[in-house]
Amino acid sequence: MKFSEYMGEWLYGKDGYYATYKNIGKEGDFYTAVSTSKFFGGTIAKHIISLVDEGFLDKDGVVCEIGAHHGYFLADVCEFIYTLRPELLSSLNFVIVERFDDLQEFQKNYFAESFGDVIELTHYKSLRELECESAFFIANEIFDAFPCELYFKGKTARVEGEEIAFDVDNEWVKEKAEKYHKTRGEIAVGYEEFAAEMVSTCKQFEFMSFDYGEMMARPDFSLRIYSKHEVMPFFQDDLNRKELFGKSDITYDVTFEHVKDAFSEVGVEFVEFKAQMSALVEMGILELLEILQANADEKIYKQELEKVKILIMPDFLGERFKMIKFRKE
Ligand SMILES: C[S@@+](CC[C@H](N)C(=O)[O-])C[C@H]1O[C@@H](n2cnc3c(N)ncnc32)[C@H](O)[C@@H]1O
Repeated sequence: MKFSEYMGEWLYGKDGYYATYKNIGKEGDFYTAVSTSKFFGGTIAKHIISLVDEGFLDKDGVVCEIGAHHGYFLADVCEFIYTLRPELLSSLNFVIVERFDDLQEFQKNYFAESFGDVIELTHYKSLRELECESAFFIANEIFDAFPCELYFKGKTARVEGEEIAFDVDNEWVKEKAEKYHKTRGEIAVGYEEFAAEMVSTCKQFEFMSFDYGEMMARPDFSLRIYSKHEVMPFFQDDLNRKELFGKSDITYDVTFEHVKDAFSEVGVEFVEFKAQMSALVEMGILELLEILQANADEKIYKQELEKVKILIMPDFLGERFKMIKFRKE
């Protein structure tokens, strides 16, 4: 079987990681930057308001999160829109693209508990179902969750049982590997289709995505497994793949140049690429903290400041996570 099929089953199969991870809860392996502080979502809210003020996003446009897990991030966005520009909460249309029914249900309940009937949340299983005039799309860590092929010195991998054999000639994979200067490494599958789906949703949109990787990810295998708060390289000798299959997260560094090319091919303009810390600071995370400082007591402010520092300090989260932005006008 192709490696992308194996990885697809691992993550999205009936017993795959994402089909069952609703049970993992807040204490599980699953912890991303957006869970660190509500001010991540707050900063995105501030940015959405600036898009409305600029005239790019209609007041009744769509705000859509893709791959929203529990929906906490989009809820943080809504909470800050309520604080900063309450009238937009009822005029904008909030959408989540989520393929799993159980997660859709969880997100619906969380929004109902948090906002009552003030927000009408719409769900789609795929971007193909969405049609609108103008939209803002946001995603966190989705590109590292696309299945990939593995490439090594001219050959593409196949999976037999738990063994990986590099003996397939696959021209598409080879061409991508050469284009991104990889003698070995992962080639993501599905970026082109995803970009084509997004472009057909509406006339005008901005898409912002945060992920772990580089414009040109290093020419090596970065494929790794997260299990019980431990990171294990996929090609580690003693790795029990059978045991870990579907029960742990499997991911790799994103080659943003590939994401960029997929969107360029369907006529979407690349706007910028930068470290998460610079992106959040430029969109106003520090101004939001100042508002908190002026309105909350010292202890609450200091607690939040510590969480925000994790997002914007030039260490693990701030620098190695990147933001990429596209626009179609
Ligand atoms: C690593 S999780 C991130 C979840 C959440 N955004 C967060 O930051 O906690 C990856 C998410 O991307 C979603 N995803 C992956 N490929 C996708 C695709 N082609 N279309 C929509 N969602 C996708 C997965 O279903 C999953 O919810």
